[in-house]
Amino acid sequence: MSLAKPAIKNRFKVGSLDHFLNQKDEHYWSFRGRAKRDHCHSLIKYPAMMVPQMQGELIDFFLEQDQNIKSVFDPFVGSGTVLVESMTRGMDFLGIDINPLAIMACEAKAGPFFLNALSLKWASLEGKINSDKSRKIDYTFDEADKWFLLDVQIELCKIRRNIKKIKPKWARRFFWVAFSDVVRMTCNSRPTTYKLHIKDELNIEEVDSPVKLFVEKCVKNLTALQSHSKILDEQNCIKRGKYQRRIDLLNVDVINSKNMLKKHKLDLLVSSPPYGDNGTTVTYGQYSYLPLKWIDANDLPVSVENKILDNSNRIDFLSLGGSKKGWAERAETISGHSNSFQKIYDEIPTESTGRERLTSFFADLNLALDVILERLQNNAYMIWTLGNRSVSGVEVQLDLIFQELLESKGCAFEKIIHRDIPSKRMPGRNKTSKTMTKETVLIMKNRSS
Ligand SMILES: C[S@@+](CC[C@H](N)C(=O)[O-])C[C@H]1O[C@@H](n2cnc3c(N)ncnc32)[C@H](O)[C@@H]1O
Repeated sequence: MSLAKPAIKNRFKVGSLDHFLNQKDEHYWSFRGRAKRDHCHSLIKYPAMMVPQMQGELIDFFLEQDQNIKSVFDPFVGSGTVLVESMTRGMDFLGIDINPLAIMACEAKAGPFFLNALSLKWASLEGKINSDKSRKIDYTFDEADKWFLLDVQIELCKIRRNIKKIKPKWARRFFWVAFSDVVRMTCNSRPTTYKLHIKDELNIEEVDSPVKLFVEKCVKNLTALQSHSKILDEQNCIKRGKYQRRIDLLNVDVINSKNMLKKHKLDLLVSSPPYGDNGTTVTYGQYSYLPLKWIDANDLPVSVENKILDNSNRIDFLSLGGSKKGWAERAETISGHSNSFQKIYDEIPTESTGRERLTSFFADLNLALDVILERLQNNAYMIWTLGNRSVSGVEVQLDLIFQELLESKGCAFEKIIHRDIPSKRMPGRNKTSKTMTKETVLIMKNRSS
């Protein structure tokens, strides 16, 4: 990633986007061998993360063209790839996600960067954990015995009770994020799928010590935070450990975010939405469920009060396309906005549940887009990273439907980039969805207002 400030030109030159994209082919955009997750990008593992370098290059292009771009919006922010790329370019940022673990990770990446204080907190926490010889299980939840061996629970409890003693909250948050990866690494769910799926009897004993893993992870994350802070410092966007631009992070269903930060309009959208309903694409909720159960609920973002952790399917149910209620009536609305949707819908066999899944997802996406466009300045560019999937054996061209939905709201198509995905891990997919090898980047302009 180039860290030098791009030369600023006064206006967006006609044809410059074509010129920029034509220099590069689809292999260039695959970022094969160039997709390392540096500095804060490595704080947490999260499903379907974007390639930071690619998003960074695209953002740079738009910043070079228009010096008025000061803020970036990611309505499906996930682990915060776009957040970090925006911060290293000194942007204001708004990120939204329904998943509390995603927002907590973003909060940790947003700072503060009180590095000396954090190193002292870490020394204190490590000391406390090492001297805590108790084997008591002072925290549990339904099915903890199913998902964790007894010895693992003993060590996770030890880490948990000692993180709880750390003050203030920003420091605890940093440790909870490291802890969440350790919970995933030491649970009895198969590492090859994002779904909660119990390991074979034979593999269940194969877990490392949570304390050992936690120590390693915290040391790595401290180094990552230091590198991130150094980059921000070089860009003059950090002062006394605080990022100098505005960052807002909302843990909410984007459809319900309309009345929050009402007057905040943003200059550029960079995002990657889910590619279908979580249940049959990527189960972000199930992936995050066990870490979220272990983290102290008092330190989680607000939506936890919303019974979001009542069961392991709840977040996925509340995410785009999770609820199938009223799907038949909703299909008519979406067909009115997108011919491609109608065509794909008609191809899906009526005896499958495909039509219902397809419709529920696009109907929710359509509602989300209304809210998202209202947050954007008129004429703001949008960079959407999208992937196709198949439903009941029928290929769903998300990029085409997406484009048509946006056009029906007055937005203008600008460009599309097709990219190879070198090794995108999309585990847990069922028979109805093929593994993805291609992604598209759809560039559109907001003309909705
Ligand atoms: C493809 S992931 C984003 C990954 C992110 N770009 C990254 O690099 O980590 C899509 C995100 O959309 C979120 N999501 C799904 N439905 C949502 C909704 N209704 N409102 C807000 N976020 C939602 C998921 O929780 C997930 O984090």
